[in-house]
Amino acid sequence: MARGKRANWQPSPMPVVIAVDPRAPEHTSRDALVEAARVLRAGGLVAFPTETVYGLGALAFDERALARVFRAKGRPLHHPLIAHVEDEGRARALAASWPEAAARLARAFWPGPLTVVVERAGHVPAAIAGGASSIALRVPSHPVALALLAQLGEPIAAPSANRYQGLSPTTAAHVVKELGDRVDLVLDAGPCAAGIESTVIDVRVDPPRVLRLGAADLAALRRVVPGLGVRSDDPASADTRASPGMDARHYAPRARMVIAPSRDAAIARARSLSASGVPVGLVVHDPTTPGEAAGIELRVLPSEPLEYARRLYGTLHDLDDAGVRGIVVQAVPSDDEAWGAVADRLARGSGPRI
Ligand code: TXA
Ligand code: MG
Repeated sequence: MARGKRANWQPSPMPVVIAVDPRAPEHTSRDALVEAARVLRAGGLVAFPTETVYGLGALAFDERALARVFRAKGRPLHHPLIAHVEDEGRARALAASWPEAAARLARAFWPGPLTVVVERAGHVPAAIAGGASSIALRVPSHPVALALLAQLGEPIAAPSANRYQGLSPTTAAHVVKELGDRVDLVLDAGPCAAGIESTVIDVRVDPPRVLRLGAADLAALRRVVPGLGVRSDDPASADTRASPGMDARHYAPRARMVIAPSRDAAIARARSLSASGVPVGLVVHDPTTPGEAAGIELRVLPSEPLEYARRLYGTLHDLDDAGVRGIVVQAVPSDDEAWGAVADRLARGSGPRI
């Protein structure tokens, strides 16, 4: 069945795309998984769905394949990748030590959208960690990701499947648009459920510290790890620069993006840009009618943070595809922790002006 679904196949520069059934991949899409494992073992790159965003996978122990990942993304070599594994035991095997907090977090949140940073075991290539002595580990919950890991029987190093600093992909089409034939095979299981990247926690320090807010619920994390710290939210702070791969500019659409403090301010800004001839997109989460944004690419997102996060990257990809040059986004609540991950991505993806 999987082979029969290669209808999307096209000659270079398009990668091979195989549809997989997210409900029971090991039964319905075995051919696709076998093919993906074959490509990975041959040193190729396979984009695969996770519950957060699509990943650009390579064998974690194949240094040439790791180098291809960095090249495909245009990512600096010192930006570390996440190793995806099937379960906590396999994660521990890649760590030099396994702190109590790692064990507690793993039991509470894996499989799921949580990444822990620990000391790297000596036999794990330094290249995966951008040369650092640490390693980031995660057990994804997406059935296709887990089935692929089981089929392969080895860890998969995978950053998000986008170009350096660009928007993360939440569909296979986003991967193809961004990476083209820089990826050998794309497993297409439809849109990602969370739509925003995993939460990254450094458990080498006590108390552990969130390096990147993400899809795991912060309040739930705090219940498991009391005293959990959160890295400064200011993307331009020195603290941010100290974390590898945490550039201030990141998660950005091609169009220039600005944040306006309120819905009305966002509409006013979008209207004035539009009046000056800039094709503009407007993203709000308070009710807005097309009549209030005539001539503007209007997108109204849900006013609840998880639903908003699920649709954010898809909306920004969509506005890029619509050819806008500027995107004005209504600021999300800054006093509500539940919006933290979304606020972080909007801050990093935007600039001071269009
Ligand atoms: O949801 C996700 O995490 C997705 C899916 C594919 O799993 N992956 C992802 O990978 O977002 P990437 O490479 O785009 O982002 C990895 C994040 C970066 O913020 C990076 O700085 C951090 O994890 N990270 C990775 N290894 C690290 C390390 N050894 N020390 C500190 N931070 C690390
Ligand atoms: Mg990324």
